[in-house]
Amino acid sequence: MSLRAQLMRTEREASARQHQLERYAADLREIFKQERSRAQELRDSYKATVRALSNAVEARDAYTGKHAERVTAYGIALARAAGLDIDSLPGIEFGFLLHDVGKVAVPDAVLFKPSSLSDDEFALIATHPVIGSEILRDVDFLGAGRLVVRHHHERWDGRGYPDRLSGDDIPLAARVFAVADALDALTTDRPYRRATHFSRARDEIRSHAGSQFDPMVVAAFETIPDRRFAELRDAVA
Ligand SMILES: [Fe+2]
Repeated sequence: MSLRAQLMRTEREASARQHQLERYAADLREIFKQERSRAQELRDSYKATVRALSNAVEARDAYTGKHAERVTAYGIALARAAGLDIDSLPGIEFGFLLHDVGKVAVPDAVLFKPSSLSDDEFALIATHPVIGSEILRDVDFLGAGRLVVRHHHERWDGRGYPDRLSGDDIPLAARVFAVADALDALTTDRPYRRATHFSRARDEIRSHAGSQFDPMVVAAFETIPDRRFAELRDAVA
């Protein structure tokens, strides 16, 4: 074979190989797209399941209606401001939604008692983070969200429950949640008091930085204006 013929053959082979590689790349792109859409479907169905469970918990309490949805919206905004990579940890959002799932084990007569609680009654309510984390123990896709369920009533100073953790020993997502939870509790009507404005709630939360709340999370909270929280609240209502 002449040199020229050899060169032409080599070129044809190289071009055929290139076409084959391009086809592989196109196939891979298509497979990746399908996988991504399947992963999204799976994530959507996880979310729908978690919301159904959260709604079932909330349906018992006419007063706090949509509390879980609001506190989740506040929690996501706060988590981002506190530097928590919530987008790559979707279980945290689920943990926010399901934080009080353990209340299913607390009788109505105690949970909705309008007057003050006896020590025994308070002890019963205080079991809900442990019961909640037990209920969700084998639900792997919740990931770090289970820690939110267990530790959402811990306090920065170690005087919370159930494990009396303090400071950085409390998972960051649970420290974030504690602020979001207080914000919603203060800005919604309760049987025993009226809702306060976001600005008053902010003063209250600020006054508990370093005792109830992580000061770093409170500082992150201060970067989010009242009107942003109002928008998040109104989007849920
Ligand atoms: Fe709770």
